[in-house]
Amino acid sequence: MLHSPELEDELGDVLDKAMKAAGLREHDLAARSGVEINRIKDVLDYRYEISPRELSALARVLGLNDAGLHALAEDRYPAPETGGLPFCLRVLAMPYGVGVVNAYIASICGAEEAVLIDSGCCPRALERAWPGDVTRIDAHLVTHWDRDHTGGCAETMKRFGLPHCLGPGPAAAGRRALCDGEVLEVAGLRIRVLSTPGHCGEHFCYLVGRADRPGAREVLFSGDLFFCGSVGGGYHDCASVLRHARRLWRELPGETVVAPGHGPLTTIANEREFNPFSDCG
Ligand SMILES: [Fe+2]
Repeated sequence: MLHSPELEDELGDVLDKAMKAAGLREHDLAARSGVEINRIKDVLDYRYEISPRELSALARVLGLNDAGLHALAEDRYPAPETGGLPFCLRVLAMPYGVGVVNAYIASICGAEEAVLIDSGCCPRALERAWPGDVTRIDAHLVTHWDRDHTGGCAETMKRFGLPHCLGPGPAAAGRRALCDGEVLEVAGLRIRVLSTPGHCGEHFCYLVGRADRPGAREVLFSGDLFFCGSVGGGYHDCASVLRHARRLWRELPGETVVAPGHGPLTTIANEREFNPFSDCG
């Protein structure tokens, strides 16, 4: 098992999101945990002098996964094995602000047909990240309509002659709205649409496998619902983000590879066991 140095969120981000989800401010958390308020402020400012005992006290009050929180704090959050997929998955990692946003291309290995999931912030970034041997896109799926994930939508429609990008509602020019539970078959892949709102009002994850190999390892494109080691910001509804992430951690096979909108690949089993927001470890 490897240890990933480039997670989307570090301890300060996780604490900030957990406090918002719990509706607690710094002084509330200090009073309930017995951890001095300045120690909490330090963590929120990315200064990590906090002791293991204090960290466990914060985890207990915030309902966080103690093992995962310690792994994150000690820079040893595990990155699991994600190989052995029955189709090709290409990661298009593009710089965005101080971070990185991911788009993905999925295809049957050796086939020309392919599916694009999200498209980064802008056509120029997508162009730079584009694999030279991919010349055809049969469907462009979108997890959510935030600009950092959809800036290349119009460009790919034009370049590949697509009638629309497919994603959550509402339908608009250049978009076709999909429905929760809908199943598509494109480019030899079977794609199940999962509605997972909370980061924004309309957000989808996509569970993708080979159409001709039911039961083989699948990939969950999780957008900004959850990442390796954290969850997306609950800008629409924090409780909904946690409810949907925990539901998927519980219900999907552990071997399912997770391809998030930011940060490295992971697996359902890894996040079930270590994600600081997991209550099923
Ligand atoms: Fe994002």
